[in-house]
Amino acid sequence: MAAPLPPQTQQEFQERGFSRRQIGRIALVLGAGAAVAGMPWHRSRADTLPVGGTYPPGSILLNGNEFWTGPFPSALPAGQKALLNGNRYLTGQERQALVETAAAYDHIAPELITPWPGSSDPLCRTVISFCSPTQGLVTCDPTYETVWGVAEWLQIPLTKVPLRPDNGYKADVRAMLKANPHAGMYYICSPNNPTGTVTPLADIAWLARNIPANAVLVVDEAYLHFSNAPSAVSLLGSYRNLIVLRTFSKLFGMAGLRLGLSITHPSLQNRMMRYDGIYQTTMLSVPAVAIGTDSLKDPAEIAKRRAETKQNRKTMQDCLTHYGVRTIPSDANMIMADWRRTPGPIVSTFAQNNVIIGRSWDIWPTCSRITVGSTSNVQAFCKAMEQVALLLK
Ligand SMILES: Cc1ncc(COP(=O)(O)O)c(C=O)c1O
Repeated sequence: MAAPLPPQTQQEFQERGFSRRQIGRIALVLGAGAAVAGMPWHRSRADTLPVGGTYPPGSILLNGNEFWTGPFPSALPAGQKALLNGNRYLTGQERQALVETAAAYDHIAPELITPWPGSSDPLCRTVISFCSPTQGLVTCDPTYETVWGVAEWLQIPLTKVPLRPDNGYKADVRAMLKANPHAGMYYICSPNNPTGTVTPLADIAWLARNIPANAVLVVDEAYLHFSNAPSAVSLLGSYRNLIVLRTFSKLFGMAGLRLGLSITHPSLQNRMMRYDGIYQTTMLSVPAVAIGTDSLKDPAEIAKRRAETKQNRKTMQDCLTHYGVRTIPSDANMIMADWRRTPGPIVSTFAQNNVIIGRSWDIWPTCSRITVGSTSNVQAFCKAMEQVALLLK
């Protein structure tokens, strides 16, 4: 059971219109950020195999947008050394080394950066901290659903603005504002999960300029390193209502190690904190911080992984096109494939061939998200497509 929220925080939430029951749930979420995988919106649809599920040994996992191999080789010595220090909590110096390295990487002030055990925890906190029963949440559809789950659970009004082909499947920021001009939070994932499409910085800046004075714009850059798109961190100097989230779970190959960053002005960071700085530091894993720090010092490996992903994505896309399956041009490590029929039997056929593909979104029920794998994973995928193609005739 989570500890109750401090009285002044409870009062703040009551003043924002939350019921006692909702406040109880907020306490639970804040105490269990790392446990989001068990929350109701992560329950899988019947026709997909869940991320974090149980698979036969040797399965090729193309369902979780993870990288196909582990952390950067150049960061492993620091990680191995850190493992032996696992008896100690993370020190302030180790945390600071990560923060300063990340700040140098992005050419921003260290004060703007807070590390987390992944980005799911700060993502949940944004909804809890900036939305309420009267200040809703606005997102695209399809997009990464964690924020939907938090909003639905806390009965926060949720508006989903469909992505459109005539807009290149980018976030339509004007439609998002029009859909709810009084929201507490607007969420853009760029490149977007599951489409891999990038929303231009000019559109992000427009939204930051036009949302209500007390609202925030959250830009989730979990997949940024797969693309050459510029980061929204360059807008932080102009917009104090912007929160950028990053994770090491994707290109950096650290999903199981748990490390992420929120990048925003300290006043917004503070509203997302339940504990003071010292306790926040002890949430972090010592090996994850050591490996994350050294990975950011290796831009050549970032570029190499980006190029390999691009190459393998093209092979997968060409294969799908060969069999007449429509895809959306992606700038990330995933592809949306439109089977033009319910994906259940297709998902099963892939699984019979040892290949586990990803889920569908309710708005596009005939599409599956497929993660780009290694060269040999892609070969296995293309081989399995020969069987799947028989179902498409
Ligand atoms: C867009 C997006 N944001 C955030 C996350 C959360 O990742 P993590 O908690 O591993 O950092 C994911 C994971 O798939 C994601 O796709």
